[in-house]
Amino acid sequence: MLKLFFTILICFQLAWTSQEREQNISRDFRLFVRILAGHYDNIKQYEQDIDRGLPPKQRHIRYTTQLNREVVPLFPRRRHFYIEQYNNGNRSDVVRQSLYSIGIDLRSRDDIHMKVYAFVDPGKFVHAKTHSRLFRDLRREDLVYRRGCDVFWTRRSRWPPRFESKMGDGCFINNQGMKVRIDDTNNVTLSALTSFEKWYAPNGTEILGVPSPYVMLRQREPEVSANPELVDKAAQESANHPLLYKSWLN
Ligand SMILES: *[C@@H]1O[C@H](CO)[C@@H](O)[C@H](O)[C@H]1NC(C)=O
Ligand SMILES: *[C@@H]1O[C@H](CO)[C@@H](O)[C@H](O)[C@H]1NC(C)=O
Ligand SMILES: *[C@@H]1O[C@H](CO)[C@@H](O)[C@H](O)[C@H]1NC(C)=O
Ligand SMILES: *[C@@H]1O[C@H](CO)[C@@H](O)[C@H](O)[C@H]1NC(C)=O
Repeated sequence: MLKLFFTILICFQLAWTSQEREQNISRDFRLFVRILAGHYDNIKQYEQDIDRGLPPKQRHIRYTTQLNREVVPLFPRRRHFYIEQYNNGNRSDVVRQSLYSIGIDLRSRDDIHMKVYAFVDPGKFVHAKTHSRLFRDLRREDLVYRRGCDVFWTRRSRWPPRFESKMGDGCFINNQGMKVRIDDTNNVTLSALTSFEKWYAPNGTEILGVPSPYVMLRQREPEVSANPELVDKAAQESANHPLLYKSWLN
């Protein structure tokens, strides 16, 4: 009798904890999606390297990163960002374009799960704005999925919030004929996006490249959509969130 009582009690507690966990993760997910959008630049770090007299090869590259919220009906129930990165403050020198598709990890329900897609025809998306119409008609054939390069985000600090990412360990790219494994970690906070990227040769040795980490400070709040009918609920919430906007402006 007593045993049954405890079994029921434990089951009840497990159900309650797992429900609470799910609530926590969806709350973290909504916050993450709100704070990720923005315009980031590591110009400060770049100028510090010059002030320190570092030779060009040892300096950080100056990266500017734009992360725009997009609406992608192709993948319902996920949230989307178009990321564009360019060198040296030159908007014509685009070095990276991807679509980030973000949801809650269904297997562990423990993490925020981000899939990274490249575009078959990247030129079409250059300088795409927030809620660009280009993403409304997106088809699976327009995208290239790099298996193994999914990114998992976890909230590490309550307030001010900090989200930290890790990567699965099967992310390979082809770099000048060599199969290179990439491992990166990132932090997203209200003030910055930081990134630590490591490259490994097939024999497991680290390839030393540009210095890490990259500290890209948030430059300004995200663009406001020009197409109000396309703004989904989460984006509206973020636009109406005075606390977050105030933190961004500081
Ligand atoms: C959910 O979040 C609250 C507030 O941060 C925390 O105290 C609690 O331990 C979390 N619960 C679970 C199951 O992670
Ligand atoms: C900007 O980048 C484009 C494309 O790489 C290049 O053609 C152009 O010369 C660059 N402009 C400056 C001012 O460096
Ligand atoms: C993320 O933040 C933690 C805590 O401040 C720090 O230990 C870690 O090195 C940071 N990672 C990156 C990529 O900046
Ligand atoms: C591992 O591979 C890299 C790149 O091909 C090479 O430069 C390095 O010497 C190799 N190291 C060992 C221990 O074999």
